[in-house]
Amino acid sequence: MSSVQPCTVGDDDDRRPPLDEILAVARRGLALKPKRLPSWLFYDERGSALFEEICEQPEYYLTRCEIALMNEHAGSIADSLGSEVRLVEYGSGSGVKTRILLRHLHQPVSYVPVEISPEPLRRSVQQLAEEFPGLPLQPLCADFSKPFRLPIPPRAPRRTVVYFPGSTIGNFEAHDSVELLRKMRNEMGDAGGILIGVDLKKEPALIEAAYNDAAGVTAKFTLNMLARLNREIGSDFELAAFAHRAHYNPMAGRIETHLVSRCEQQVKIGRNKVGFRPGEAIQVEYSCKYSLAEFAALAEKAGLAVLRVWTDPQRMFSVQYLERATALAH
Ligand code: AVI
Repeated sequence: MSSVQPCTVGDDDDRRPPLDEILAVARRGLALKPKRLPSWLFYDERGSALFEEICEQPEYYLTRCEIALMNEHAGSIADSLGSEVRLVEYGSGSGVKTRILLRHLHQPVSYVPVEISPEPLRRSVQQLAEEFPGLPLQPLCADFSKPFRLPIPPRAPRRTVVYFPGSTIGNFEAHDSVELLRKMRNEMGDAGGILIGVDLKKEPALIEAAYNDAAGVTAKFTLNMLARLNREIGSDFELAAFAHRAHYNPMAGRIETHLVSRCEQQVKIGRNKVGFRPGEAIQVEYSCKYSLAEFAALAEKAGLAVLRVWTDPQRMFSVQYLERATALAH
């Protein structure tokens, strides 16, 4: 029996950004002082493959710790979520973590991966259908940061849980992360919950090493943003003329990643030229790290309360279960 629904396309019909939008984003970002490009530009096909490679680097503890944590606590996580859950994952969900969770859920009603890129979405659903033949899969091709309508579930779930692993929440700045949590809160409804991976504050040297792996995969990943712009909008960034720099800012509690110009240079963006001074940086990503108290305060701003926290033995990484703050009063 096949229980895979054809991919639903999000209402906004605004999936992979068109090239004129990418050009506009690049122009706008490079006109800012200091220059800035959004981190979603990392994730073309090559960037997504490089990110998978980052996850295997010995320094990148996040994935390893989250998988260890899921292996250790998936039973208890599934118990906290309860039975007959509809699981909505923000991201394609082909990963090990999703499979561990799905193996432990009690009579799940359906699994809805929400993913902007059709190909990874198709692949992940195909893989999951093989391992979970009885689980209704309802893929939704949409940008999770924009409004979308969830597909109608095959039967009424007791609870909708939004799953957001990987500490991707850390790539949003404080205001945007509260907005995103609020959006999840709306989607899950009164009885729903959020299961979210959150990287924790720790020794800065360990954090910095994770974003400066010795094999140079993260540097390639960062520089791929410029290669992508060259491929897609015909800019002429000289990759060797830029360097990857990822530094932990202890005051802000985040890794700040930049592409730094190695020399004075001019780069063609559309019909214009953008000038760079030697050492001038483009800010391309933040990866925020939280203490448990800081994340609870962030959740509270979105009208959410943290009900459970699971960590790995070294308390490097956490998976947290959130519900509506008001729901707790009842
Ligand atoms: C996807 N995200 C959680 C990663 C992170 O750790 O911020 C992206 C990444 N950037 C460099 N390495 C990994």
